[in-house]
Amino acid sequence: MNDEARNRHDAAGTNTAPLPVLKKYYESESERRPFVSALFDNAAEHYDWVCGMGSLGSGGFYRRWVLTRSGLRVGMKFLDVATGTGMIARGATRILHEPGAVVGLDPSGGMLREARKTLAIPLVQGTVEELPFADGHFDFLCMGYALRHMADLGVAFRECLRVLKPGGRVLILEITLPRSPLGRRFFRVYFEKVLPLITRISTRSANAELLMKYYWDTIAHCVPPDMILGVLKSSGFVGIERRVRGGLLSEYLGLKPA
Ligand SMILES: C[S@@+](CC[C@H](N)C(=O)[O-])C[C@H]1O[C@@H](n2cnc3c(N)ncnc32)[C@H](O)[C@@H]1O
Repeated sequence: MNDEARNRHDAAGTNTAPLPVLKKYYESESERRPFVSALFDNAAEHYDWVCGMGSLGSGGFYRRWVLTRSGLRVGMKFLDVATGTGMIARGATRILHEPGAVVGLDPSGGMLREARKTLAIPLVQGTVEELPFADGHFDFLCMGYALRHMADLGVAFRECLRVLKPGGRVLILEITLPRSPLGRRFFRVYFEKVLPLITRISTRSANAELLMKYYWDTIAHCVPPDMILGVLKSSGFVGIERRVRGGLLSEYLGLKPA
């Protein structure tokens, strides 16, 4: 764990924030959530386009593929936490063939509005920190590219554990910085400079450009994978593993004890 990550723990060692306060965007921890909500609300209409440019292969196909690879099967009840415009939920409905088996949750009204354009599934407004579902309700829970927006990973993961059935599975998808210095340099130039510029020119939206700038800063400042694995473990998950695709796409898997 690096110093920056270590400093995010409080005296009792229980604060597991994935990011420091990013003063470039908001002044204090309490301002993070309203900032993030407004960010996604305002850029929702551009999200799918921006995601296509910035996801480095983690588009609809990859999302569906990773759900299958991670054990999503017909008959399961699936929760897509931080569903956004529903890219993961769409993949899940194609695997499960039953719209009622898939539920999407997101705090952003704007993102949910976009999701409703293509998805006929229950879409619930809420946050991972307080999931509005009964204990032991789902077989499979996925949270894609949202971990960086949580205030406290421990709170989020314990809530995920609560709503899973015994033996249920969690899958967290995230972007990770490449290990090689050259890869990191390329990634930085692309995400920090090139992508926001292309986004601004193509969408003519300052909100979409801001989303891309924030995207880069959250990836650059996110806690390292070891800490994410550690918090999954301390939250009560077992059988935890991390798979990495192309050095960039991380898949964190865990099971609720049977
Ligand atoms: C980058 S988008 C990911 C959307 C989708 N999962 C995907 O794979 O494209 C991140 C989403 O996380 C949501 N989010 C932010 N804070 C959240 C929280 N505390 N609980 C649940 N979702 C949150 C945002 O509203 C946004 O829709």
